[in-house]
Amino acid sequence: MYETILARSFSRHEQKKLGFGAFVCCLLIALSFCTVFRSYLGPLPNLKLRLSVGVHHKLLKDTSSSNENEITSPQIDKDEEIVTEKVVLLCTKEERTDFCGIEGDVRVHGNTSSVYSVTGQLSILAENTSWSVRPYARKEDPAAMSGVREWTVKPVDGSHEIPQCTKNHSIPAVLFSIAGYLGNPFHDFADVLIPLFSTSRKFNGEVQFLITDKQPWWISKFQVVLNALSKYELIDIDTDNEVHCFPAVTVGLKRYHIELSMDPSYNYSIKDFRDFLRNVFSLKRAKAIKISDDQRKKPRLLIISRNRTRSFINTGQIGKLAESLGYEVVIAEAENVSSFAEIVNSCDVMMGVHGAGLTNMLFLPENAILIQVLPYGGFEWLATGYGSDPSKDMDLKYLEYKIRMEESTLIQQYPLDHEVLRDPSSIQKQGWKAFGSVYMNKQNVKLDINRFRPTLMKALELLH
Ligand SMILES: *[C@@H]1O[C@H](CO)[C@@H](O)[C@H](O)[C@H]1NC(C)=O
Ligand SMILES: *[C@@H]1O[C@H](CO)[C@@H](O)[C@H](O)[C@H]1NC(C)=O
Ligand SMILES: *[C@@H]1O[C@H](CO)[C@@H](O)[C@H](O)[C@H]1NC(C)=O
Ligand SMILES: *[C@@H]1O[C@H](CO)[C@@H](O)[C@H](O)[C@H]1NC(C)=O
Ligand SMILES: *[C@@H]1O[C@H](CO)[C@@H](O)[C@H](O)[C@H]1NC(C)=O
Ligand SMILES: *[C@@H]1O[C@H](CO)[C@@H](O)[C@H](O)[C@H]1NC(C)=O
Repeated sequence: MYETILARSFSRHEQKKLGFGAFVCCLLIALSFCTVFRSYLGPLPNLKLRLSVGVHHKLLKDTSSSNENEITSPQIDKDEEIVTEKVVLLCTKEERTDFCGIEGDVRVHGNTSSVYSVTGQLSILAENTSWSVRPYARKEDPAAMSGVREWTVKPVDGSHEIPQCTKNHSIPAVLFSIAGYLGNPFHDFADVLIPLFSTSRKFNGEVQFLITDKQPWWISKFQVVLNALSKYELIDIDTDNEVHCFPAVTVGLKRYHIELSMDPSYNYSIKDFRDFLRNVFSLKRAKAIKISDDQRKKPRLLIISRNRTRSFINTGQIGKLAESLGYEVVIAEAENVSSFAEIVNSCDVMMGVHGAGLTNMLFLPENAILIQVLPYGGFEWLATGYGSDPSKDMDLKYLEYKIRMEESTLIQQYPLDHEVLRDPSSIQKQGWKAFGSVYMNKQNVKLDINRFRPTLMKALELLH
């Protein structure tokens, strides 16, 4: 019905001009056939509409976003869904990521960075439609995205030249990039591994990973994790001239709005991911010690010693203080993932200066305590998003220690009346680069042992 009305009402030429009008019209018709009117008006961020009015192909517009007047070209900015009897193509554009889920006859051609969704016959509106997707989950950060290859997702029908399959696969595929900020442990997990887990865990290994922007060192670093998610050897899709055909493909990964956490609608939580990691790295401890349980055992404190920037310059003193309070102290620098995971998992309290090393909280046992030390310069806005929020979702306890100016080595580099010391907010206002180049990269931390003591004591108390 939808198509008939379109065909009768608009010539192709008119339709170009009336594209948006046609859409509104279609939507109204669609809505009158559906009982979704209430949810249509609701505030859901990514409402999908699916109709079943007996036509072959439909192209539907997400109506939940506010600026709806932008459909002017085949490059569409917002969520779109094409549904036929056998084919589902849903591309979602979110603040943090773009991704497409395609089912049916899906063909991936690496050499042209194209993903084709083959349908019987496309509706006029769907013709010439395509989506550009950079399959890396940090869209809000242009610097991260700049090295990420762009893929085109395109619905095609018999009137197009459809590339012939040269390799048939019977399992679904997930296509993602490993460019961006990888190599930084925070981004390894936040941008790729966690989103990849939430997308592909449900396949129970029966999934093909297609890697774009291949970096062999990264793959070998996380080979054990990738192998636990997929039983099949990765395909480096950029350098391969095959046309791979799949029953379903996901292009891009979805990142949740809480860093290092997981979208519950994917049916997995970050706790499942932590269980999974414990399995993958053969980590023994699921729970931190309870001090009353076993008086003989000392709680273990891990001090993450960064050694380039934001490092503790009195690690020895901190260690002595902790020992005097009854801790067994481990001082380590994150290096090799699997051996460091083991060290972290053996500890009950982990402390470190704000930085990517704290991502290792993923390996801590349940009820363990994370102590984040905030350098001088106003790190509060980073502390919540990267420390306290993620640790909450992981069943960890969180403590924070904010250093005073006297505990920062910046006082040796700048005169006391310099704005770096006097007014950090004025540097923050100059932007991330100015802030980072001083407070992130130039300062080390000399903890005031007496001032820090209560934080370590509080951690002990929390272990009771
Ligand atoms: C789609 O593209 C072809 C070739 O560029 C053009 O002839 C056709 O009119 C386009 N269709 C629509 C609906 O814009
Ligand atoms: C892949 O499957 C299609 C449809 O079943 C078939 O026509 C084609 O020959 C197959 N291609 C290869 C390379 O096996
Ligand atoms: C990619 O396609 C071009 C022609 O379109 C061809 O010259 C080139 O060899 C192909 N690359 C690979 C790796 O097959
Ligand atoms: C989550 O589980 C529900 C119920 O089993 C299912 O309908 C839904 O498709 C699942 N969601 C995802 C993203 O797999
Ligand atoms: C930093 O730590 C790494 C690994 O432990 C070590 O190889 C390197 O020499 C250290 N650098 C400095 C400046 O101490
Ligand atoms: C990391 O450590 C594990 C266990 O100690 C070891 O088997 C592995 O070879 C190390 N990997 C690298 C890349 O150093």
